[in-house]
Amino acid sequence: MTDKTIDLFASEDSLPDPGERIEELRTMIQKHDKAYYTNAQPLIADREYDKLFAELVELEKANPDLIRSDSPTQKVGGAPIKGFRTIQHKIPMLSLSNTYSREELTDFDRKVREGLLKSYASEKAAYKYVTELKYDGVAMSLRYKNGQLDLALTRGDGTSGDDVTQNIKTLKNIPNTVNKIELMAVPLANIEVRGEVYMDDSEFLRINKLKEDSGEKLYANPRNLTAGTLKLLDPKQVEKRRLKMVSYWLHSDDHDLSSHQENLELLKKLGLPVGEHISLCADIEEVFQFIDKSGDRRGGLDFGIDGVVIKVDSTEQQQELGFVSRSPRWAIAYKFEAEQARTKLNNIILQVGRTGAITPVAELEPVFLAGSTISRATLHNADYIKEIDVRIGDTVYIEKGGDVIPKVTGHVPEERPADSVEFQMPEFCPCELKSPLIRPEGEANHYCDHPECKSQIKRRIEHFISRNAMNIAGGVKFTEQFTDWGYLNSVADIFDLKKKSHEIMKLEGWGKRSLEVLFSSIEDCKTLPFAKVLYAIGIRFVGSGASKVLANHFKTIEALKSATKEQLTEVSDIGDKIAESLINFFADEKEMKILDRLIAAELNFEQATPEESGEEQTLAGKTFVLTGELQSMKRNAAKDKIEKLGGKVTSAVSKKTSYLVAGNNPGSKYDKALKLAVEILDEEGLIALLE
Ligand code: IVH
Repeated sequence: MTDKTIDLFASEDSLPDPGERIEELRTMIQKHDKAYYTNAQPLIADREYDKLFAELVELEKANPDLIRSDSPTQKVGGAPIKGFRTIQHKIPMLSLSNTYSREELTDFDRKVREGLLKSYASEKAAYKYVTELKYDGVAMSLRYKNGQLDLALTRGDGTSGDDVTQNIKTLKNIPNTVNKIELMAVPLANIEVRGEVYMDDSEFLRINKLKEDSGEKLYANPRNLTAGTLKLLDPKQVEKRRLKMVSYWLHSDDHDLSSHQENLELLKKLGLPVGEHISLCADIEEVFQFIDKSGDRRGGLDFGIDGVVIKVDSTEQQQELGFVSRSPRWAIAYKFEAEQARTKLNNIILQVGRTGAITPVAELEPVFLAGSTISRATLHNADYIKEIDVRIGDTVYIEKGGDVIPKVTGHVPEERPADSVEFQMPEFCPCELKSPLIRPEGEANHYCDHPECKSQIKRRIEHFISRNAMNIAGGVKFTEQFTDWGYLNSVADIFDLKKKSHEIMKLEGWGKRSLEVLFSSIEDCKTLPFAKVLYAIGIRFVGSGASKVLANHFKTIEALKSATKEQLTEVSDIGDKIAESLINFFADEKEMKILDRLIAAELNFEQATPEESGEEQTLAGKTFVLTGELQSMKRNAAKDKIEKLGGKVTSAVSKKTSYLVAGNNPGSKYDKALKLAVEILDEEGLIALLE
């Protein structure tokens, strides 16, 4: 391992101490919770997350003195999303403990039995389970007051959630008024209903098709799109997405309810949707049968399930069993392994990345898997193909992880054609230049290192203009067309486009307005900080984190360029691999020509530290929060300007906030600022302050 990363496979004598590992796991889990719950963009597959979580639980169990109240194991869920009113749940919204193993399920059953035997004489300790499908969506709580839908809250952190009532009211299968029912002559009208909001696969495909047609990035899966839709501030947009909800829990303020099965019946009578395929199981054997059946059904459903939920039926027994920290003892989720599909591998093609890295990609007989039709999947690299031993013509397994990109995971030996041959990595790049591929020592990837390779240029431009880099409007359409038409042979050419605007204006698909937007976003690049520019250039292994570290440390491109390998590796987080790549980059004449043109285009190649920026620090000590749309500049540009003058921009309004800058449609931060008497500036006010 050349980089200064933590070696998780360290030998016995250098085993990390449990305290360190616990800290590391907590940090990772918190990061993933934020990605999952707050940003609705999971970074890893559920399975990987569950493994990290289980490891933390085990370590804390073995070292109880290291348990802290802020550990993810002591919490209920993720953080509430910003932009909506946050309201406390009447009863905390817990999640379930989950397992992938049948042994653990038997164990769960034993604990239920033993738990009930402690409380009841044996004949009363008999119990049943209700088994349901585990819908893969977003948990929701609905409160009905006098039969009217009064409040819809997301789970949030389990204690309080976001008020998404207006969005939920657009769901066609959720009644605004429940049917009138009486129990013992008292209406069942003040209730809380919990369930899962989800999107049908067919609806997900419809929306992604629209995205695809307009050349936009696709949504990863129905769950992410559901979470993202619930966060939309405009209910009309929510309505267009045809979300659904299924209910699986009922609480009444006025009645004691006796069993889960009865509750599901009551939910139906109230007019609320309950799940398909619910079963009452007399013992754990019947639960296993339900699991098997559900696994078989999974592929034929028009919605995603990621397992089944097993609940003790009697409400009294549920109360007797109670809870452990974040989950009930009376219920458990059995999760399915990542969904797999089988299909034919028609061909293996090579895809060229921005650094010239070659990824073999499987071209497949189209097959439907977990919410979308798959016709391509990654094969990572030549070693991976060898390891899983796949050949063109094979029937292969494909899987989806937490990401939108599926991968090939193996083949069916019995279905291998007799005449198939082992895959050989081609010697030449698939682009028109057909330059030889090289495989650097110690690397798994092959590379095309021809600087004029068109595929590579396209990927570099794609990266350069991407949101986290220079954020230039135009996307795939811009990259593909302008490269194919010969206007872009390197990222530096982007800054010469304006000179050719008369010519470009005549091109199909590029009108005056779209070019105005394009040129204005190209102009905005000049306001972006050095670290972003460094990242955008796309030096091999230099990601956004490393770019920030390098910009902070070296301050100028000149200093970075003249740094030796030793000086580079002295910087924390910069290992041999990154250092060598930087040195190669700066030694490459062609790259340097591009770099010089980017410098001449007035991009920031210096870190604007307070001392060096020369700007008077008129905003030192002031904290700003930006909300709503600004007209004359992008939020990022406003942020840069504030920071240049010594101010700080944060995301949440608090008593310490000096100014809230409110653009159009400001949202809940505005209300909070009013409440806390934080000074509110409109756009003109901000400009005056900046000037
Ligand atoms: S019962 C206290 N039933 O899975 C019991 N949950 O971690 C609460 N889910 O938070 C949950 N389908 O978002 C239950 N049939 C079902 C479910 C279900 C999906 C979700 C729910 C819950 C998570 C478990």
